[in-house]
Amino acid sequence: MVSESAPSAAHVLVASNRGPVSYTVGEDGELSAKRGGGGLVSGLSAIGDDADALWICSALGEGDREAVRRGVGEPGVRMLDIDATVHADAYNGIANSVLWFVHHMLYQTPLEPAFGPEFRAQWAAYETYNRAFAEALAQEAAPGAAVLVQDYHLALVPGMLRELREDLRIGHFSHTPWAPADYFRMLPDDVAEQLLRGMLGADRLGFLTGRWADAFTECCVRVVGGTSGTRIGVHGLGADADFLRERSRRDDVEERMRALREQAGEDRRLIVRVDRTELSKNIVRGLLAYRELLDTRPEWRERVVHVAFAYPSRQDLAVYRDYTQEVSRVAEEINSTFGTAGWTPVVLHVKDDFARSLAAYRMADVALVNPIRDGMNLVAKEVPVVSDEGCALVLSREAGAHEELAEDALSVNPFDVSATAEALHAGLLMPQDERAERTKRLAAAATALPPAQWFLDQLRALTG
Ligand code: G6P
Repeated sequence: MVSESAPSAAHVLVASNRGPVSYTVGEDGELSAKRGGGGLVSGLSAIGDDADALWICSALGEGDREAVRRGVGEPGVRMLDIDATVHADAYNGIANSVLWFVHHMLYQTPLEPAFGPEFRAQWAAYETYNRAFAEALAQEAAPGAAVLVQDYHLALVPGMLRELREDLRIGHFSHTPWAPADYFRMLPDDVAEQLLRGMLGADRLGFLTGRWADAFTECCVRVVGGTSGTRIGVHGLGADADFLRERSRRDDVEERMRALREQAGEDRRLIVRVDRTELSKNIVRGLLAYRELLDTRPEWRERVVHVAFAYPSRQDLAVYRDYTQEVSRVAEEINSTFGTAGWTPVVLHVKDDFARSLAAYRMADVALVNPIRDGMNLVAKEVPVVSDEGCALVLSREAGAHEELAEDALSVNPFDVSATAEALHAGLLMPQDERAERTKRLAAAATALPPAQWFLDQLRALTG
């Protein structure tokens, strides 16, 4: 357990909004911890236990806050209990409703954004929130330590931390796309400048693809006159092959495969998608493309099922709640238009279940990954790794993963519903041996930079 009064003098520090563990309070009042997965968690574990590493994150829900109050924690993790209103304004207000929207180009621009007093109040909270991280990092870091700050939630941290501790080596990594300069400049000038200068306080900045790194550089040139000596690198996070292959062969996955097969029907082809119900994931246009496929290629009726897993995300925001409803509405409409007594064209699941996701990955004939814009998209990389018999990948050219997977994927413009319908058709028709061959090559490309290596590369580039 790490407490505020006992600084750990860590040599490697990670800072992110969401940490590797979260707590819930049970009915008996007991706290239970749940460890999360993801690239950072496996990346950090690669440096070993004796590296004096510390992960600083926010206390997110009531359970986390209670854990902080009771002094409960995991070794190597410090949760910051930041005022709930400040956190809500910084996270929901600025990070998810402004910065996420800017980088994913999600605004419906005739009406939004409209940066006024509410935005200014939230921006002040974002600054407070970033300062809390910078101060905690300054307090915990050993002399000359390496600090790896994550994502758009904490864009101001590098600059703030630099002011507090000149001796540190500071890196920042963006897990999102970066907006083109014209779009980025919708932000008020002073805010745009503050964000860029905040990030440029780092020694080194990392991005998932060259495209996002170039967009960032262009913003710097336009807004602050250049990148002022900050180094910029590209690290295309890959899928964790060892973990996925082992995990996807366990009994619970096999069990869900049987259940899914029963639900879909024995001989039917499966078009699979797995996403958070996230505006940028383009789930509704995916459904519309499937509807068009059934409409224009009636030979597929009764012979194919669209398995769509759309797990709730950011439900504090009305626009996400509305989108979630729209996904269900369109899925139901397709089922009522085309469904028959023995065939449900869309199987939509909204309850997060990792084992069931892996089951669908293994069984997919076609995977649909069609985001409007996406930093990387790991689903596109995970499916080929675990696929049983090969899977055709319909992939948006706006996903970061497309830079590495284009050759063996069926590329689509995510806004072109008809072209997406055609790509689904082509995927369903792809001969079995071609599908298997392509999947093998996709899996090789998808695992080129496993999470542990991805993390170590950044650390070495920062400290070397
Ligand atoms: C995705 C993005 C990350 C982001 C995360 C936040 O994984 O790729 O850039 O940090 O979502 O999700 P959350 O549920 O914490 O808002």
